Formats: sequence, structure tokens, C-alpha cells
Amino acid sequence: MSEVVKVSARDGVAVVEVCNPPVNALSQAVRQGLVDAMARVASDDGIQAAILIGAGRTFPAGADIREFDAPAQEPHLPDVCNAIENCPKPVVACLHGTALGGGYEIALAAHARLATPGTRVGLPEIGLGVMPGAGGTQRLPRLVAVEDALSMILSGAPVDAAKTREKGYVDGIVEGDLASAGITFAKSLVGKPLKPVGARRERFSDGFGYQAAVDAARREAGEDASRARRAIIDCIEAAPLLPFDQGLALERDHFLELRETVEAKALRHVFLATRLAVKPRPDLPEPANVSQVAIFGGGLMGSGITVSCLDAGFSVIVIEQPEALERTRARVGGIYDRAVERGRLSPQMRDERLSRLSVDAEKSAIASADLILEAVPDDRDLKAQLFRDIAAHAKPGAILATNTSYLDVDDLAETSGRPQDFVGLHFFSPAHVQQAMEVVVGRETSALTEATAFAFGNAIKKKPVRSENAEGFIGNRVLTAYRRAADYLLEDGASPSEIDAAMRAFGFKMGPYQVLDMAGLDISWARRKRLGEATAEGTRYVRIGDAMCEAGRFGQKTAKGYYRYEEGSRTPLTDPEATAIIDRERAAKGVTPREISSEEIQRTCLIAMMNEGGKLLDESVAERAGDIDILMILGLGFPREKGGPMKAAELAGLLGQLRDLETWSKEDVFWTPSKALKNAVKNGSQF
Ligand code: 3HC
Repeated sequence: MSEVVKVSARDGVAVVEVCNPPVNALSQAVRQGLVDAMARVASDDGIQAAILIGAGRTFPAGADIREFDAPAQEPHLPDVCNAIENCPKPVVACLHGTALGGGYEIALAAHARLATPGTRVGLPEIGLGVMPGAGGTQRLPRLVAVEDALSMILSGAPVDAAKTREKGYVDGIVEGDLASAGITFAKSLVGKPLKPVGARRERFSDGFGYQAAVDAARREAGEDASRARRAIIDCIEAAPLLPFDQGLALERDHFLELRETVEAKALRHVFLATRLAVKPRPDLPEPANVSQVAIFGGGLMGSGITVSCLDAGFSVIVIEQPEALERTRARVGGIYDRAVERGRLSPQMRDERLSRLSVDAEKSAIASADLILEAVPDDRDLKAQLFRDIAAHAKPGAILATNTSYLDVDDLAETSGRPQDFVGLHFFSPAHVQQAMEVVVGRETSALTEATAFAFGNAIKKKPVRSENAEGFIGNRVLTAYRRAADYLLEDGASPSEIDAAMRAFGFKMGPYQVLDMAGLDISWARRKRLGEATAEGTRYVRIGDAMCEAGRFGQKTAKGYYRYEEGSRTPLTDPEATAIIDRERAAKGVTPREISSEEIQRTCLIAMMNEGGKLLDESVAERAGDIDILMILGLGFPREKGGPMKAAELAGLLGQLRDLETWSKEDVFWTPSKALKNAVKNGSQF
């Protein structure tokens, strides 16, 4: 008998149980097990009916995503669905947990579906750049209204089966024991004529209404709709028009084609890399218990982190100057008020969360905190003094964390006198929204502290990614490389708006100069001065950003930066004064501006990010290329559908072009390919 699909008989009913933890994904072995089980149900005279059920936490949550990069192996999921649907004996799918994707598709092929309260069903394939590939687009519109089928498949969002019961996603909700209820129900179907879902056409009775819903979805998707979106609409449109088996074949063709697209490969990588990144290293001990958190600083960052902690159920004490205490309360309260206004939170939930917040001006108030985090301005001396004070009041073993973006974590750890308890927790702004978080492990950070930092990051619903202590850690290092590449292109002849437009076309929401204008040019100016970048030997230095600052152009806050802004507007407008500064700086370097294509801009910026990522791997600052990708996507706006800079470079075939880059690098040390990347290319290894 199959290890992953167990069949037992109860009262003349076969219990077909999928046992493939953690989420019972439909791997090749599971698919084979299900086909064999259906054959046995059909041929065993002692069996009158069957139920399909998942062991552990869920009914199958989908096809096994890890198999998608290899050729599809038999039996395919549509074969499993057909075996279920064509079984001469009634088959009842008994759902719990998350019946998603291929999991829900096998349920749709059964003769009936029962679910426990809280079960979520859905077809989330679009989030992976594909579409249902085992009958979802053909069977779902036979069971539910076409509008609901379109909405479920195009949004990819699962629904609560009990709360949407009247829509027909399942046939019944089971309060008690699921298997027993399934067996009883299956027996009640024995001897009655079976109606395979594929043969049902009641939902197609209003042909005009059906087509109108499809047309509306197509209009809403627009002309730029992704391939997956277009294919989904086409297949749902075809469901009433084509014989069932031809509808299935059409869907399968689209699915297999989509599976091979760059976007689908990138999104699969993001799915798997995210789950890998947030896992603490396997050799770490159990984390320490954290229930009370203290946060120094109630500014934008501190308030955002406070909200994340309150949302996760922690008690939070914010330490601020006496005059800022009420402002801090108001800021945190304001975030919750807006959530209530938008209907994301009930007033009761807001009040409960705020009841766990206290603010205090006395540092001694942190005495019982399990984790103490500072979110004060990024000034070395200020933070060093603060950690000396924190160490004087914190209980032994409390985790001490800095939210610095750039400062040396080892140096700060030393000032605290408790380097073993010390860790960097670098959040991205706005901290209550952004999921990215770097766990910066210092030289002396203990394994317990690291484990606790990861557990804390996961508890507050962030995606913690491990970084060694190094200037800029991972995210800001790659971001700096990106901006530097953009600056080279700017100096060489591209305008800020050309560079921004190219990167928006690549998929960023905003281009680098729009972001700089928004964040304030003075911040990176101060950092460049601190690092003495202008005078660093052997590195090309672009002075344009400095010149903008020298002219008082700090970005949106001064209504001028790389662009100019009308009063009260954030729309960037081309500014002849900014252009004149750029021209002057080019002339000072003797640069004759050249035309630079959008493609070259995108390629150069991507190579710069990839290469910096390679260096981070080389230096063991980052552990995996996927970690870099996740940080750049979640924290710094890199387009998810491109997979992050490392994956995007691989998918664009750029890793193979490093030899060209090596020649290039002779004029420009910045582009020296890292050892890690050279090795990756040499070994043909995939990121
Ligand atoms: N294939 C392979 N592994 C999967 C998987 C899948 N479909 N879904 C989840 N996993 C793995 C995760 O990688 C993770 O592995 P790990 O423990 O080694 O890190 C583990 O299961 C647990 O996953 P999560 O950490 O995400 O656990 P959560 O409890 O937060 O979420 C979930 C569970 C809601 C099921 C979530 O994992 C999820 O959304 N999974 C993807 C569902 C999906 O997209 N299904 C459609 C697949 S495509 C398809 O079915 C095509 C078909 O139409 C032909």
C-alpha cells in the first residue's frame, strides 16, 4: 500500500486518506496512490462508496510546487480527478484546513463535498503565475455562479466554506467528526444515480448572462492583462461551449504553457524562498519566551513596530521623552483608527490592542521586558549611550535589539556590555505594513538570542531574513548598488525621468529618483559623507546627488530634488534647474552624454543588484541567494513577478554573461563579478 495514501474500509466505505505532511501536497506518489485507491474502490465488491480525506492539518493544499520545475510526471492531476469523477461508486470529499489548488480540484471532481467549519477553499494558482490545471476552470462554473467562479480563480483568494455555504463551493458543513459524517453521507448516495460534475449543465442555462459575466471580467482585466488572467477567462468562457473533455484539454494546454513562463518560475521561487528564508537555522536551540516588549522611540518607525507587536498579542511599553508621550499614543492610536475606518479592524479589537500599550518616560520601566528594541535616530553615539542605559535596567537575559539600518551591530553590542543578548532587527518603513525584516547576527550574538529573534520576527508576522553584520546589511547594500548603477547611467546621459520610467516598466512601483526625492536626498548625502565615498580610491563617484543637496534640493520636502513639485503635489515634474546641475556635473567630468535605451537601464541596474548580491554571498553576509531576493521584494519594491534580483538575473540569462562583464569591469571596478557568481556560472548551479 502507498505510504502517502492510506486506504481502510469502514462499514463498507473506503476511507482514502492522504498522508503527506505538512500540507498533503499532491506529489507524484500521492497522485499514484489516489489513482490506485480509486481502482481498488471500483473493483472491490465489499466497498460501496468512498471518502477522500486529508491526515493532519489539512485536505491537500495543492499540487506539489517543488515538482513544477521538472517535466510533469504521470499520473497527472487531471487523471486523478477523472478517476474520482468516473468512479462507479459515490466518492465524497471531506475537507478541512485549506483545500487549495489541485486539492480543491480533486474535491470538485468528487460526487459531493463536505467541510468542517473554518475550512478554506480556493484556487490560488494565479498567485503562482499559473491557472488551475486539473479541471478547476471547467468544474467550478458547473457548481457555482459564473461570477463566483471568475472571482475565485482570478483573485486567487480562498473563501471560508461555511461562511459562503449558500454559494455552493461545498455541499455541507460538518460540525462533528468529519470522517464519520462523510461515511454516512457517502452511504446515503449508494444506489442513487451518480451525477458527475463534468456532466452538469444547470449553471449554463442562462447563456447570455454567463457570457455577459465573462465579458465583464475581460473588460475589467483590461488589455494589459497577464497571460494567466487571459487564459483563465478564455477557459471559463469555453466551459459551456466545449464538450467537457475538450474544455479540460484546453485548460491543461494553457496550464502547461504557463508553468514554463519566466513569471511562473519567478513566483515559484518566491514562494519557496520565502519559506526557507524565515526558518531559523536548524542547529539553534528553542527560543526564549517573549511576552513583554519595550521599544525606545515612538517616532514613525517605533510606532509601526509597536503596532506589529500589539497585533501579535504582546504587551508593549514605549519609552519616549516626557513631551512626546502623548504624541506617541496618538500616533499608534491613529494607525488603529485608520484601520477601523477602513473596516479592517473592529473598534473592540482596536481597544483591546491599545489596552496592552503603555508609554513611559522612565527607562527603568523596561525592567520586566523580555525584548528591548531601540528605534531612535540612526546616530552612533546616541544609540551607544542608550544601550549603556538599557543594560543598566534590563533584566538578565532580556534580548537587546537595535533597529539600525547602517551602524555596526558589533560595536553597539559591545557598548551594551551584553553582546551575547544583542541582535539587529532591521525593519523597513512603514514597519506595521512592510513584511521584510533583517535579523542581523553579530559576532557574539548567542544561538539563543538568534533563535528568539527569529521566533519574534515570525510572531509579529514579518519575514525575518538572516544577515551577518556588514555595512548596510543585505537590503541596503543591494539598494546602494542599484542606486549607484542608476547614477552611472545618469552621468552617462540618461535623465532621471528616463531611468525612473525604465525601472517602472521593469516592475518597480517607483523609479530610484522618485524614491530619493520622496525619502529626502539629504539622508544618503549624510551617509556618503560619513563613509567618505567621494574620496574613496578606485571607485567611480557621481557627484550629482551631492550637487543637488548643495543647491538646497532635498526632494519633496523642499519641493525640488531630481524633479520639481507644485505646491501640495507629489507629481514629479521635469525641472530645467535640475537638468542644468546634471549637465554641469557631466561637463566637469568631461562626459559627453549618450542615448541610453530603457533596456540598457534595466539590464545595468539588474546586473548591479545581482552582482552586489553575489558579493554578499561571497562574504557570507547573506546565506542564500533567495534571502536576497525576498528582502528586495518585500522591503525594497523589487517586482515579485521577476523573482528578486538574483532569480531575475538567472532567468534573464545574465549569469552566463559574466565574461562580458569582466571585460567591462576593467574600466569600472564596481562591476567586478564576485567569486560566488563566477562559481555559480562555472558549476551551472541555479540560484
Ligand atoms: N507544494 C509544495 N509544498 C508546499 C505547498 C505546495 N503546494 N504548499 C505548502 N507547501 C509547504 C511549504 O513550502 C512549507 O514547507 P516547509 O515546512 O518545508 O517550509 C510547508 O508546506 C508549510 O507551508 P507554509 O509555511 O506556507 O504554512 P502555512 O500554514 O502558513 O500556509 C498554506 C499553508 C495556506 C497551504 C500555504 O502553504 C499555501 O498557500 N500553499 C500554496 C497553496 C497553493 O498555491 N496551491 C496551488 C498549487 S498549484 C496547483 O495546485 C496547480 C493545479 O491546479 C494543477
